[in-house]
Amino acid sequence: AKILVLHGPNLNLLGTREPEIYGSTTLADIHADMAAQAQAAGVQLESFQSNHEGGLIDRVQAARDEGVDFIIINPAGYTHTSVALRDAFAAVKIPFIEVHLSNVHAREAFRRHSYFSDIAVGVICGLGASGYRMALDYALARLLAR
Ligand code: DQA
Repeated sequence: AKILVLHGPNLNLLGTREPEIYGSTTLADIHADMAAQAQAAGVQLESFQSNHEGGLIDRVQAARDEGVDFIIINPAGYTHTSVALRDAFAAVKIPFIEVHLSNVHAREAFRRHSYFSDIAVGVICGLGASGYRMALDYALARLLAR
């Protein structure tokens, strides 16, 4: 089984980016943690971060050809803007969980709308980096139950 973790724009700056909102954990820490969790379950895990909408769309399209079973994505700023990235998920029909480090409902009004939530399996927000671990727990249980 294969799981893909996607990170949208500015998440490469995690650790130094508004730490009062996003915490001090880096993307490398998050990846290492998830990679160990997946390896223990015997599942292949790949992570990809891009600051470019088209790069993320290309990665979602490629995921179908690669037989990726499940995606965990933090679309970051594209959450609130990207019809095109949403359309890519609708096209490939790979189940996914939407993760946000911060509680997007407790912030500016423009963060309350997501182009992804209604087509996601589920949404986790406000739990910081541990949200990714919980999403992966779910994905592993779901894949190993097949
Ligand atoms: C975010 C929330 C988004 O509103 C924001 O644009 C981000 C990060 C989060 O993880 O809390 O870049 O997705």
